[in-house]
Amino acid sequence: MASANLPRPELRIDMAAMDTLLTPVNCDGPGLLAFPAQSNFSGVKHPLSLVATAQARGWHVLLDAAAFVPTNRLDLRQVRPDFVAVSFYKMFGYPTGVGCLLVRNAALKVLRRPWFGGGTVNFATVKGRMHVLSSGEAGFEDGTLNYLSIPAVEIGLRHLRQVGMETIQTRVLCLTDWLIKQLLALQHRNGRPMVRLYGPVNMIMRGGTVTLNLYDPNGHLLDYRRIEQLAGDARISLRTGCFCNPGAGESAEDLSDEDMRAGLAQVGAGINLRRFMQVMQDRSGKSAGAIRVSTGLASNFADVSRFLDFVLGFRDQTALTLGTVSFDIESCRVVRDGG
Ligand SMILES: Cc1ncc(COP(=O)(O)O)c(C=O)c1O
Repeated sequence: MASANLPRPELRIDMAAMDTLLTPVNCDGPGLLAFPAQSNFSGVKHPLSLVATAQARGWHVLLDAAAFVPTNRLDLRQVRPDFVAVSFYKMFGYPTGVGCLLVRNAALKVLRRPWFGGGTVNFATVKGRMHVLSSGEAGFEDGTLNYLSIPAVEIGLRHLRQVGMETIQTRVLCLTDWLIKQLLALQHRNGRPMVRLYGPVNMIMRGGTVTLNLYDPNGHLLDYRRIEQLAGDARISLRTGCFCNPGAGESAEDLSDEDMRAGLAQVGAGINLRRFMQVMQDRSGKSAGAIRVSTGLASNFADVSRFLDFVLGFRDQTALTLGTVSFDIESCRVVRDGG
């Protein structure tokens, strides 16, 4: 397995490096290129032209559209990935736990499933030691489908259509652009910036995800876990940590192979994000993790303005004045050992 570079500061796929990675595949079967249409770390929209480029070289392509489709139209007549993953609650908030994997018929044939669950077989025998999977997509659906939640998907899709994707897109663009500009303009009294933003600072090929860290007047990182805790006190629910994006986070903070080796060697098998963060901080002042805010269908100006007011509260604050975090962000447990 290989992964593409995401050079700073914009964290867009390094297309020259990608060109090298997408060499004709020599292995038994075709290779699989998986990439997000929009990064849920940086908001970057990666070029959808990669789909056809990779396919022309014999690769199958899985397009992760989970962060893209809530605010963008994906036309599958134009862009033709073999597999597309989407997550419905990200599109209209409900129901959680119901997503879908769209699969082209031709691509379905290359999928192998060595096990089976209830409802996915046409025939099964214990004594005969064999089973026959249902044909088509049914062979990949384990157990009873979530039939109580699935009807909500149609209602949600209708709601999206009624609001209109163009309207949602315009709103996201305006709110995100405003928020980014305001955040970047924030300064401590000594003129030092309060905010460091990861990813593009304008709205060219980017969506409504804004990822950042806050710094004190001396340029020292403020602990995002403490910021999340204070946000909770202010009734703002913030997403912090490394999200589901360890790779993008490492690129954003320029965590080197050496940093990673040092971190892993120090904390060994007992590694978790909290311990790893501490090692990175002590070693180089780099952050393992960040704060993420996103705009979408349900966001309005009051939301972004309130978040900005909250961030303004950190003007001239330091780790000392903020106090230390008293819970473990990864497991939401109270921190006892302080380690
Ligand atoms: C691009 C992308 N892929 C995958 C996921 C994971 O989705 P889920 O939690 O619905 O499995 C997310 C969640 O934020 C995402 O934004």
